[in-house]
Amino acid sequence: QIKGFIFDLDGVIANTSVYHAKAWHQLADKVGVSWTTDLANQLKGVGRMDSLNLILKSGNKENDYSDEQKASLAEEKNDNYLQLLKSLDKSEILPGMEKFIEDLSAHNYLISLASSSKNSPRVLEALDLNKYFDARVDPATLKHGKPDPEIYVRGAQVLNLKPEECIGLEDAVAGITSINGAGEISVGIGDPEILNEADINFKDTSEVTLENIESAMKRKLN
Ligand code: BG6
Ligand code: MG
Repeated sequence: QIKGFIFDLDGVIANTSVYHAKAWHQLADKVGVSWTTDLANQLKGVGRMDSLNLILKSGNKENDYSDEQKASLAEEKNDNYLQLLKSLDKSEILPGMEKFIEDLSAHNYLISLASSSKNSPRVLEALDLNKYFDARVDPATLKHGKPDPEIYVRGAQVLNLKPEECIGLEDAVAGITSINGAGEISVGIGDPEILNEADINFKDTSEVTLENIESAMKRKLN
């Protein structure tokens, strides 16, 4: 029986994945790595330093920078990201997501956040959605980022639930891999050909409703 929902933030609740992508694109240009849709998809959901390493690796530049230089590149990306977030407000909540989260809360489901982003508290605050969350995984406390299962395992633990009692929602391949590895039901939001490992797929957030999830689960069981 499902008792809890574990949410990714960027690209699932908030329209912020476009800002992350924009800021990483700027950084790729700066270090002379070409920006491709494939690279953009690889980066989705992945933490800050891991993302930087993926960019450098994609241009065979992983040995060109010291740890110190990498830290300052990551900081520069974050500064650019925060600039793009300046006017963040409720209008950046993705279609239908506030209603969906409200519905879950009204049906007494437990809700946690499993975002890789160290900026997630500030984003949730700006969107005025903090009140719906029973718990949050602090990504700074993780040994391994997505696609490792750790963050979604913790997302269930912080709700005192077993993985099989939880549904995780993601827009990124790395996130779906993490949910599946944790033994939870995965909902992929976005291109179903890219998110083909998800248990349930929705093209966009406006399709994500409790009803649609329930009927998709019934179809899966039959
Ligand atoms: C994820 C985003 O939620 O957080 C990634 O999908 C981002 O694009 C990652 O790189 C880390 O975010 P931050 O804000 O800690 O740099
Ligand atoms: Mg995401």
